[in-house]
Amino acid sequence: MKSISGDLIAPRLARLRQEKTAVAVNRLLYECLRDAIHDGSLPAGTRLPPTRDLAAEAGISRNTVMHAYEQLIAEGYTRGLTGSGTYVAERIPDLPPLKPGNPAVAPAGKSVAGRLSRRGRKVVMGAQAQATQWGAFLPGVPDVTQVPHAKLAQITARLSRELPPSTLSYATNGGYARLHQSLAVYLRQARSVVCEPGQIVVTEGVHQAIDLITRVLGDAGDHAWVEEPGYWGTRSILEINGIRLKPMPVDAEGMRFPIQATARPPRFAFVTPSHQYPLGPVMSLSRRLDLLNFAAQHGTWVVEDDYDSEFRFSGHPVASLQGLLPGAPVIYVGTFSKTLYPGLRMAYMVVPAPFAAAFRTAQSKLYRGGHMLQQAALAEFMDSGQYAAHIRRMRLIYAARRAYLIQLVEQSLGPGWVHEYDSNAGLHLVLALPPGTDDVAIAAEAAARGVIARPLSIYYFGRNPSPGLILAFASVPQEEMLAPWQVVARCILEAVAKKR
Ligand SMILES: Cc1ncc(COP(=O)(O)O)c(C=O)c1O
Repeated sequence: MKSISGDLIAPRLARLRQEKTAVAVNRLLYECLRDAIHDGSLPAGTRLPPTRDLAAEAGISRNTVMHAYEQLIAEGYTRGLTGSGTYVAERIPDLPPLKPGNPAVAPAGKSVAGRLSRRGRKVVMGAQAQATQWGAFLPGVPDVTQVPHAKLAQITARLSRELPPSTLSYATNGGYARLHQSLAVYLRQARSVVCEPGQIVVTEGVHQAIDLITRVLGDAGDHAWVEEPGYWGTRSILEINGIRLKPMPVDAEGMRFPIQATARPPRFAFVTPSHQYPLGPVMSLSRRLDLLNFAAQHGTWVVEDDYDSEFRFSGHPVASLQGLLPGAPVIYVGTFSKTLYPGLRMAYMVVPAPFAAAFRTAQSKLYRGGHMLQQAALAEFMDSGQYAAHIRRMRLIYAARRAYLIQLVEQSLGPGWVHEYDSNAGLHLVLALPPGTDDVAIAAEAAARGVIARPLSIYYFGRNPSPGLILAFASVPQEEMLAPWQVVARCILEAVAKKR
């Protein structure tokens, strides 16, 4: 049977569903009804249509309608009289005050940014993470379609029946003990890291590890050497925590720095020695030793971000910096984001043994932590050899994709475009563009044509960035690479021709 309120609600709901495709329908229906009650379209005492009728009129399930009705009753907008239907309440609650444009939130003449705290502004201004996090040639993302989800799910399902309830509670002690053991074995074998399980803290990504390190070992006003160009994620967290950045140039041997005493030695040196991000060189042995000696002498903490070292396509894997001089003030950080998938938000750090308890306490106090079931599953996945097998398989896939992309680049542009510091590793290539080329404009043009090619210049802190493009090949199968590459190549050639 058609109802008056059904006539009113069904078209409003249809409109909302087109506008807000990501929002659950029961939530949209609840909003429709709530707004209609507020604007008087459904006055006090109105009987809402029976759930079955409204479901039929709006073309949605009865359960969806029931959910929305229950929410309205719970919030006092309606009352349900058992057996006789749902009615709009006599006195309705005020609308929640936090609506965009509400003067109480953003008074006329004052921007939202103007009302944020200084720290809040640092957090949100200049953020570089893109809304799109998948597709050619987005950097930093492995081929997540290749993750052995079925195997992981099988382990997780079994463990969820076997594990004690404590594993579903808050995580303390830096994560799940068995994962510490599995990681210690893996890191010793694969990365030459010198560690015991008790030195490992599992974090929600490298980002959280960097935040924790900066908060536990640094104070606002401390200095940190960071690579120039370098990873913006690290820089943002340091800046938010009040650490002053000293960008240090990168050359073919990695980050360059003064080896003699400086007036004010930095509190931290953040480096990516296995595969400098984004340019790609491996830090040379002599530079590594210089850095460790400097750090030991001056009380500087070296933070080794070993984010994608598993993917090196020729020669031997590069051993970690941490393992080179046991006892040196190094914190090693690694992640499952590149070997498995970023959405897992699982990384780990190895801290010198005397600091382990402090880091575990701080982690629990700051973030509480969880995901013990996933950590238990990962431990089993690693111990069974399947993790190493997955990495070996992906290494071959990525090597082939990389070689194919280089072939495409050379066919379209000729030789000499891959950056001179490239070391045949990782998940992306850097193309060096002729000096003076506007790489931001090229990237914008490529984006307008549907392809992501991040400009190299945005990875620089200083005023003299070199232009280039970051092209990640890891998530793009060969058969899908030609079309996006042709878009990028056209954008580059058009920009270079315009410059002449
Ligand atoms: C150098 C570097 N470190 C760390 C990360 C991110 O690691 P996570 O996803 O574990 O936060 C990235 C991601 O692209 C990276 O490029």
